[in-house]
Amino acid sequence: MQSILCIGHSTYDITIPMPNYPAENIKYRIKNIVESGGGPANNAAYLLAKWEVKTYYAGSVGNDLYGNRIKKELTDGGVDTTYLEVKDNMRTSTSYIIANLENGSRTILGHPNLDMICTNQNIALNPAVILVDGYHYELAKQTLINNPDAISILDAGRVTKETLSLGTMVDYLVCSRDFAEQFCRQKIDINNKDILRLIYNNMAASFKTNIIITLGAKGCLYYKNNDVEILPPYQVKAVDSTGAGDIFHGAFAYGLFHHYDLEKTLRIASIAGALSVTKIGSKQSMPALQTVMEIYQHVD
Ligand SMILES: Nc1ncnc2c1ncn2[C@@H]1O[C@H](COP(=O)(O)OP(=O)(O)OP(=O)(O)O)[C@@H](O)[C@H]1O
Ligand SMILES: [Mg+2]
Repeated sequence: MQSILCIGHSTYDITIPMPNYPAENIKYRIKNIVESGGGPANNAAYLLAKWEVKTYYAGSVGNDLYGNRIKKELTDGGVDTTYLEVKDNMRTSTSYIIANLENGSRTILGHPNLDMICTNQNIALNPAVILVDGYHYELAKQTLINNPDAISILDAGRVTKETLSLGTMVDYLVCSRDFAEQFCRQKIDINNKDILRLIYNNMAASFKTNIIITLGAKGCLYYKNNDVEILPPYQVKAVDSTGAGDIFHGAFAYGLFHHYDLEKTLRIASIAGALSVTKIGSKQSMPALQTVMEIYQHVD
């Protein structure tokens, strides 16, 4: 059976929804918190399984409360966790997220455990699509080398030596605005086509692959008919943008898995990303495939 393999980060997200951004040195009483597993590859894998693709997730968690919850959530969601390593005496990565319900912004205080690297270097699968996010670099690199025919995607959230290296190996570098701005040392002005061309050309010259830049509420940038193009976002009322990028990437992988063209793939990813920001959390805000497809049929 054809499958998708997602390799990368898992973290346990604890989201605190706030009516607006908290002020310093004030005591607040929280009404509720929203908890789930998170991380780019983890969230993308969960969406893909929800959308009924045979999906494997490879990564690692500690053998602790949060690690075991992450594993159970993935398994219950239908993700194959054969390649999820649960490590004794290791702390699972955590993220503490302030969701500002007023404008949908999410402020993330990450506490990753960067020592928790997959020991497995050899995954005996033949996936049709591979999604990597820069974590578990050696495993990601080896898997890309072993599967030259797979369609490969890098979710590059920030510039690191790992994302820079994997970016030269994949078919699609789908990066965040932060990554593009850090890499090019240039702020993006979406109203200035010369700057957009400069950024795109700079990245294309280095990575020599398909490049897409996600721009949050401004949509995403891609290359069409020999020029840069902005795909405007699907308009929604944002309450929490946590996981929008991860869900965008999961839906992007879905489109390529089904051999949709780039335009259709991006539209589906953009609708999925947009719908996800209308609810708090990441796992809690994954849209149904049917909802995304219905919107796709009805919007230009
Ligand atoms: N407020 C929004 N309204 C509509 N669409 C949005 C909004 N925020 C995000 N999206 C969609 O989701 C895509 C990915 O979002 P974004 O660029 O914020 O990802 P990111 O920077 O990787 O963040 P993260 O990985 O932390 O979610 C955007 O390109 C856009 O299509
Ligand atoms: Mg992201």
